[in-house]
Amino acid sequence: MLYPLPAVMVSCAREGEKPNIITVAWAGTICSGPAMVYISVRPERYSYEIIRETKEFVINLTTEDLTWATDYCGVRSGRDVDKFAETGLTPEKAQHLNYAPVIEESPVNIECRVLEIKELGTHHMFLAEVVGVSVDEAYLDEKGRFDLNRTGLVAYSHGSYMTLGEACGSFGYSVRRKKRKPESGRRKAQQKRKAERRNRK
Ligand SMILES: Cc1cc2nc3c(=O)[nH]c(=O)nc-3n(C[C@H](O)[C@H](O)[C@H](O)COP(=O)(O)O)c2cc1C
Repeated sequence: MLYPLPAVMVSCAREGEKPNIITVAWAGTICSGPAMVYISVRPERYSYEIIRETKEFVINLTTEDLTWATDYCGVRSGRDVDKFAETGLTPEKAQHLNYAPVIEESPVNIECRVLEIKELGTHHMFLAEVVGVSVDEAYLDEKGRFDLNRTGLVAYSHGSYMTLGEACGSFGYSVRRKKRKPESGRRKAQQKRKAERRNRK
């Protein structure tokens, strides 16, 4: 019941074989420095052995436009279908990995190398270091800053894919002091004096 979850498309590949995509909701950031993430995957998934053997995967963030493909990659297995061909998504060579491709259509590709596998139970957790991140330049502003919230990200909550809606605050806003114009206090005092004079008349 922790919500919302990311529903990310994780791409992986073995040498000489078609690349694959698995949709994953058990995914998250676990450390800032060094940058580390996890994904938890059931051992029966086709992707599981690929990631276990190659020790590589890419987390590709999903958007409203990619929702259909995200769902498809979460209900069909790479054992039976070529998910890149079926979804029309494009595998591109990753910058820092040997096998796993990035998904070209995703606005953010997080390239990961597995450090540890924790066999927790139904799911095994791949603990990984982030070795590279690429972003779609269409979302860079004039100062070269990436605007993630403009990409149309989607979250997964209680069985539904949800768009993110409006911002209702930003980091630290609860303690940020409101900027006051320096002369505003003086202006208030002037207005008070004017009103007092008017009342005296
Ligand atoms: C929204 C969504 C989230 C999912 N999250 C996970 C997950 O966190 N771990 C997992 O092992 N499978 C998860 N699945 C199921 C796999 O994506 C699914 O079984 C997929 O067909 C496996 O593909 P593969 O056999 O090609 O590896 C999820 C499916 C959906 C639709």
